[in-house]
Amino acid sequence: MNKIVTKIDSESEKFRNRVKEYHSTLSHFRSALKVIQKGGKQSAIKQHIERGKLLPRQRIDMLVDPNSPFLELSSFAAYGRYKNEFSSSGIVTGIGYIHQKPVVIIANDASVKGGTYIPETIKKHLRAQEIAFQNNLPCIYLVDSGGIYLPEQANVFPDKDDFGRIFYNQARLSASRIPQISVVLGSCTAGGAYIPAMSDESIIVKNQGTIFLGGPPLVKAATGEEVTAEELGGGEVHAGISGLVDHLADNEEHAFLICRDIIRTLPFSETQPLETTESKEPLYDIEELYGLLPFSVREVVDSYEIIARIVDNSDLHEFKKNYGKTLITGFANIMGFPVGIIANNGILYSESALKGTHFIELCNYRKIPIVFLQNIVGFMVGKKYENAGIAKEGAKMVHAVANSNVPKFTIIFGGSYGAGNYAMSGRAYDPNLLFMYPNSRISVMGGEQAANVLGSIKKEQLEKRGEKLSDEEYESIRKPIREKYEIESSAFYSSSQLWDDGIIDPKDTRSVLAFGIAVSLNRKFPDPKSGIYRM
Ligand code: COA
Repeated sequence: MNKIVTKIDSESEKFRNRVKEYHSTLSHFRSALKVIQKGGKQSAIKQHIERGKLLPRQRIDMLVDPNSPFLELSSFAAYGRYKNEFSSSGIVTGIGYIHQKPVVIIANDASVKGGTYIPETIKKHLRAQEIAFQNNLPCIYLVDSGGIYLPEQANVFPDKDDFGRIFYNQARLSASRIPQISVVLGSCTAGGAYIPAMSDESIIVKNQGTIFLGGPPLVKAATGEEVTAEELGGGEVHAGISGLVDHLADNEEHAFLICRDIIRTLPFSETQPLETTESKEPLYDIEELYGLLPFSVREVVDSYEIIARIVDNSDLHEFKKNYGKTLITGFANIMGFPVGIIANNGILYSESALKGTHFIELCNYRKIPIVFLQNIVGFMVGKKYENAGIAKEGAKMVHAVANSNVPKFTIIFGGSYGAGNYAMSGRAYDPNLLFMYPNSRISVMGGEQAANVLGSIKKEQLEKRGEKLSDEEYESIRKPIREKYEIESSAFYSSSQLWDDGIIDPKDTRSVLAFGIAVSLNRKFPDPKSGIYRM
């Protein structure tokens, strides 16, 4: 292993100013997160608590092993949308440990519009199930939901990845021997009734949980029958008469104890062996990342400096150090776990793509998880490069990433643009987890470039007709594009749309990656396979 020696003077005034600037971005991130994690509006939270119910994050706290980590995902889902009335899109998802077994937890937040589902809620719920599939993790559903948010029905009901997919996934997960457990803590109305009904094992809280396809008002309207919610689908009914649930709990705490007992009885999974070493802190303080991270593509950052603050002992056993230098590849450890690091250090050329492809194959055959550190404007363009077949060489790396048989983790620490996003394991390439830093940006190209492309297309159209675009008209085309890209490429916009699994504070990178790798060992990695590379 070779130690990365920093070239940065972290005591310099320039560096300190950059750290200060980063802290203002972090304080926006932290204060927004604090508000989001409170849940719904004050009156709804008050009513929820007065009913003797716990909030979703309190429920999760009570359910998981004491003092164990819980990795909450996509807290910023639906952020800045729907008048900010859907904090975390009304659902809390994440990975935690129960009796030392990793599980996925999906908890409705009834203080957010009755725990109803908008498109982002569904996307987040399905993403959590996908993580369960990928990592072979039992799913625990803490159900307290009014089902579909009716004004959004056209966007949440009929399509393939809409509400119905939740139950389809439950059936498929169960068939794959991935346990499905429901704890009914409030309403399970209409389609929502299928969550406990499709589970392998369900628990309901007495005088609190209800399950029915149609609630009392609907029954009255449809058949004239007058019935209370408890008589229609309360705990006593489903545990004693209908048989829809298997365990009747006296209260929430009791329900979580039963749930923990269920997990305790599950057999441990056959795990992937991985040769770990003793965890060592990097030689340089991880918080120095704050002084290094770029806010725009124009700021050049040396990725060796980033790696040096993330990997154990700042050690990197580099692969092809002198070839394709705009992509750094090498083996390292993160909190003792061996990883293959693939980090951009400039634009991607044919050689860097070939180097990346080769390195991914090494990780695949050696069964070592890969960490992608993304800061990429894309592949090189121009006649020389196109003629030399850059698209062909880039495609090899995209192939290798798509067919990789080992867990992949992607951290976007700068920009993520163009096909570089694909080659570096963007969302479409199924990384086990993908996180953004608060400064990072993602879009098909930069706003300035998109504005120039669209401006020059218009210019050429008019020139063909013998007309000319004035400078003001040219700018009036470019300005709104730049502004739109500015908003839509931010990490907060990305997380709101669930293009990632969340925004993290850079200082948490090591612990988040180590947690993700530990969880990914819950299934054996398959053997490597690849498609046909165009030679
Ligand atoms: N669609 C849209 N909005 C809904 C909703 C739904 N299905 N269910 C609840 N809401 C909204 C309410 O309008 C209210 O909004 P507001 O805060 O802006 O006033 C908020 O969610 C809370 O509802 P409320 O009834 O005050 O809370 P509650 O805790 O007493 O009851 C429910 C929650 C979910 C049990 C109850 O609202 C209910 O039964 N909803 C209808 C459920 C249903 O029939 N769903 C079928 C869809 S598949």
